[in-house]
Amino acid sequence: MSRPVKTVVLPVAGLGTRFLPATKAIPKEMLPVVDKPVIQYAVEEAAAAGIERFVFVTSRGKTALEDHFDQHAELYATLTRRNKDTQLAEARAAELPTGHFSFVRQAEPLGLGHAVWCARQVVGNEPFAVILPDEVFLSAEGPVLKQLVGAYKKVGGNVLAVREVPHELTHRYGILAVGQDDGSIAEATGMVEKPRPQDAPSDLSIVGRYILQPEVFEHLEAFETGAGGEIQLTDAMAKLIGRQPFHGARFNGERFDCGDKAGYVAANIAFALARADLADTVRALSGGRLA
Ligand code: G1P
Repeated sequence: MSRPVKTVVLPVAGLGTRFLPATKAIPKEMLPVVDKPVIQYAVEEAAAAGIERFVFVTSRGKTALEDHFDQHAELYATLTRRNKDTQLAEARAAELPTGHFSFVRQAEPLGLGHAVWCARQVVGNEPFAVILPDEVFLSAEGPVLKQLVGAYKKVGGNVLAVREVPHELTHRYGILAVGQDDGSIAEATGMVEKPRPQDAPSDLSIVGRYILQPEVFEHLEAFETGAGGEIQLTDAMAKLIGRQPFHGARFNGERFDCGDKAGYVAANIAFALARADLADTVRALSGGRLA
């Protein structure tokens, strides 16, 4: 029996340099896709997967994130007085229960592996999920982390969301070396961060959803630098292979990279068109561009 996954780590310390000038004064995770900040999609996805503890790895200038998930007594009182029930419900939908969310700081931008390591004391000796909030998904088969939990219940150990990418793009992702593969769940026999296409062991790329065992912290603790001179999560995960079950699980869903300007715009269009209350109006206002 696999131990249940109740904690998620949300690395949100990045400077958002790919998104200037929008991110000069506000965290990139607070940019909205339609009417919700990008980070809220990640939190809702985690909650839908049964997550109860949310650990944000933040940095200087990210306090808007703390406020967003906290209560806002003054706003609630005003909305109540004005009988704005819908708006009150919308504001409160972003709340996390007191005591179930915490913030740890990553003092220096040393890489994704280092960011995850910063959460070790809050996570403790339990399996945990990692969500990279820049990536949002539209899926007909439910939230991607929930799909991943489904795979974890079958195979246990460590499970990463994966998808095939064009071979020439392997240098943008962590890439798995693959053993047994039933077309849905693939055994990982190795993994490498951002390999050149000629060095890539497959085209199966890591997507920003992970379920990991706490032993990964021991390997992160070595602070070894890898691709780009950063402490890479992929390198620490690779060291678990052979000691613990390690799999990639394909998922249903369309991925949008909201850390990228084009991906962010595409996400806004796709999410608006997926909304029954907005699709027709947005199409009409687009002057035929979205016909
Ligand atoms: C990170 C991971 C990489 C993964 C990617 C998914 O890279 O290091 O393994 O494939 O996220 O988006 P980043 O995009 O932060 O450079």
